[in-house]
Amino acid sequence: MADYIYTLETRLTPDQQKAVTLVQDAAKAAEMNLYLTGGAIRDIITGFPIRDIDFTVQGNALKLQKELERAGAVVGDADDETKSLLLTLPGNVRAEIAMARSERYEKTGKPPQITPATIIEDLRRRDFTVNAMALSLNEGSRGLLMDPFNGAADIEAKLVRVLHNYGFIEDPSRLIRATRFAARFHWPLEERTQQRYNAAKENGYIEYIRNAAIGHEIEQLAYEDDPLSILKAYEKEGWLKVLNAHWSSAKVDTVGLSALMKTRQQMNELGYTPEVAPAVLYFLTSRLGDKDVSDIRKAIPRKDLVEAWKDLEDNAKELSKRLSGKEAATPSRTWQLLSSARPEMILFLAVTARQQAVVQKIKNFFTKWRQVQQKIPLPEMTELHITAQLPQYPKIANDVFLMLLDGKLRSRTETLKYLKPLAPPPPPPPPPPPAKRGRGAKAAVAPAPAPTGAKGKGKAVAVTAPVALAQASAKVKGKPAAPAAPAPPKPEAATKLTAAEKGKQGKAPAQKNPYKPAKPAVKTKSKPKGKKKR
Ligand code: CTP
Repeated sequence: MADYIYTLETRLTPDQQKAVTLVQDAAKAAEMNLYLTGGAIRDIITGFPIRDIDFTVQGNALKLQKELERAGAVVGDADDETKSLLLTLPGNVRAEIAMARSERYEKTGKPPQITPATIIEDLRRRDFTVNAMALSLNEGSRGLLMDPFNGAADIEAKLVRVLHNYGFIEDPSRLIRATRFAARFHWPLEERTQQRYNAAKENGYIEYIRNAAIGHEIEQLAYEDDPLSILKAYEKEGWLKVLNAHWSSAKVDTVGLSALMKTRQQMNELGYTPEVAPAVLYFLTSRLGDKDVSDIRKAIPRKDLVEAWKDLEDNAKELSKRLSGKEAATPSRTWQLLSSARPEMILFLAVTARQQAVVQKIKNFFTKWRQVQQKIPLPEMTELHITAQLPQYPKIANDVFLMLLDGKLRSRTETLKYLKPLAPPPPPPPPPPPAKRGRGAKAAVAPAPAPTGAKGKGKAVAVTAPVALAQASAKVKGKPAAPAAPAPPKPEAATKLTAAEKGKQGKAPAQKNPYKPAKPAVKTKSKPKGKKKR
């Protein structure tokens, strides 16, 4: 059997892994069995990116809300009918936790009868075989895959297969979902599924789609990697009109959307992971009327997504204003301003800004100014003992970077001139080992733990110290990666670094020589020659 836990752990991002642990802990504390379900399992097996994590618990998921909020989760929606929570977990991880349920459809277009169920019964109420698997996250069976419909085989065959004959009739939103998965993965519908799809389409079952499902599918569209191609597939199948009567690909700002996706990609490459869905919705609905936009917003279940979408323009205006003002008068100040701005806002502004100066500043932030880092003389800083071990190192490195940005340090010589007075005193040699008397004295060259009773002898120590230092410095030269990079690269890292810097600076005791051992292991009267020289 495949080791799904190993695959799970290697495929999830660190934030997603933390999210799984967090939900696991909450479910365990509430004594509920927990399973990973839906698209996450499919994506783990296929190797496609895991975009959101769906959990199913045997029990009322709403009971976990408080505990999860305490752990930092933001609840986007709590559905009392399905007893499910839409969450954004720390690190921007999207998740849903739902009660395991069975659904009984009595009449087309009417909501199903929902009853609490076991996980296997829950899998039966799902849409496609590839989405109807569960992975146990419970002690004793952790990693056990439940795949009653042989979804893994359909993944292997790259097929979208509806679970049962009435799948599309019971829940017509599955017609839209089938189109979405087929377009996203480039997997065809399995033959009989295609027949059922065609029949349901011809018979107009889509009319019976529920409003909640419309909202859910619009929301899902916003998280697609290539939303425009999915939207076009919807349009071709006639589903886009279902999501909103006036929607068409002509209502999309395609230029803006493609610029957004391209800039997002570039930001990803630099280590930024902006949440792009609100801006995707903005561009997908750019040319729709206010009433339609308002209807779409009302339909979307995840309220934090809607709020972020609504706030986009105002937040971007605000950032644009700041970037045009005194606060961004110099490159260094602009750098600091953009480093503390939310990546989503930078992304949106990068794509929508009209003022050339603002566009240029953002461009510099992502390109030219980043290259200035390379001018920080790291090897020379190491030689000056300005390394990451120094409490004030982050500040020094950041100050140098900012001065380089502003052209206040124009050459390496100027930079070194600035750095030299900031160098700590060089480290003292290691404490001399107590030298052996008589014959043994010659052998006592290495600063090894002294044999008891041995006493230091000046000459031996004087030889030892420079040798040890030369070795240390050779090591540093051979491995110049020692100092940590200054604040610039990652947005979050940059902000965190600033906070860490402050903390470090605040906490660190004023130390003249950070290399000085607090208590020399052995006291010796004779000062080593090497020390005198320096
Ligand atoms: N589901 C279903 N019928 C629906 C909606 C959802 O059976 N009309 C089930 C499926 O098992 C699906 C899971 O709920 O996998 C989660 O739904 P959703 O988040 O919409 O889709 P994912 O499959 O997770 O796909 P992705 O997030 O990658 O779009």
